[in-house]
Amino acid sequence: MSDSRFLRACRREPVDRVPIWVMRQAGRYLPEYRALRTKFDFLTVCRTPDLAAEVTLQPIRRFRFDAAILFSDILIPVAAMGCPVAFDPAPVFERPVRTMADVEALHVPDPVAETGFVMEAIRVLKRELPTSSAQPATPPLIGFAGAPITLATYMVEGGSSKEFHGLRRLLAEAPDVAERLLDLLTRTVTDYLVAQVQAGADAVQLFDTWAGLLGPDDYAAHAVPYLQRIAEALRPYGVPIIYYVNGAAPLLEGIRTIGASVLSVDWRTRLDSARRVFGSEFALQGNLDPCALYGPGREIARRVERVLADAGRAPGHIFNLGHGILPDTPIESVHAMIEAVHRYGARGD
Ligand code: CP3
Repeated sequence: MSDSRFLRACRREPVDRVPIWVMRQAGRYLPEYRALRTKFDFLTVCRTPDLAAEVTLQPIRRFRFDAAILFSDILIPVAAMGCPVAFDPAPVFERPVRTMADVEALHVPDPVAETGFVMEAIRVLKRELPTSSAQPATPPLIGFAGAPITLATYMVEGGSSKEFHGLRRLLAEAPDVAERLLDLLTRTVTDYLVAQVQAGADAVQLFDTWAGLLGPDDYAAHAVPYLQRIAEALRPYGVPIIYYVNGAAPLLEGIRTIGASVLSVDWRTRLDSARRVFGSEFALQGNLDPCALYGPGREIARRVERVLADAGRAPGHIFNLGHGILPDTPIESVHAMIEAVHRYGARGD
């Protein structure tokens, strides 16, 4: 399995062709996911290992992606901290976290005792991936967590928002409360990811979707040190750490220092310019604009070819979108993208 093209690309080793998987590859754009969701609500799917494993496998069976990503949500461990969340489908929190008393009411959950269904889903998948993928190499399994800044963004805001002023306001108004919350989240995410690796995850992705809202100084002060702690704790396990930020361009210098091995780049940063900042110390993942999948097949192929050309031929590129696939994406566009990656991403070595 360590020979899968995904893990080889994470380690910047040569591959026969550029591997591809897609953020949010299990979800509402798939008819088989929507069919299952008519019977079970979202949290039930997340909390039932056989259902979470089944949904994880759906895009593998349909598209033969080069990696599977566990079906769950970044807010599952947040609920386990004592901050209940509902999905409508956007997240809504019963009690937003804004004061020291709010933070002190939370705890660092034991990942096995309190989110054991996630670890069980991983174990089910490690058994089922080899037989259900029907491809020569078993796809590796990616575990994931939200990064502290992104989780805190939701918890302070109490849900989704356009601007998410809440956390930046808290960092200015009550930095001690914000730091306490970020520390608690860092410990939670670390324990949660270690447990996923111990259960069998082959790589982990940290989703820092909202860190792009911070300016570079705030990112350096309030994101980087916590990310370094997480990466440091995971290092002994030897699994690739993929770090995703939406809107990464102004933060690239800070991102270099966090200790990840793969940077997942959004569509606004060209991979050749990311490569210039990062040199060859990192693998790059990305970065087709998810909206490109609303275009005609030949235009999708052209844009895939462009992403691959920007990434260059040196080892260390994993093809992906620049953010999660959108719920009404046409299935035939996903096929067009995959075919183009197979055609233009062949490396013959
Ligand atoms: O990638 C995968 O296939 C695995 C599943 C996955 C989900 N959420 C399932 C989901 C992953 C990796 C996530 C991560 C996640 N969750 C992120 C980071 C990635 C990103 O897109 O930025 C964020 C910010 C969340 C928080 C979240 N969960 C939001 C904002 C929403 C609602 C809007 C939306 O994008 O769907 C969710 C709910 C959610 N998470 C759904 C799914 C399939 C929809 C629930 C449903 O079936 O109705």
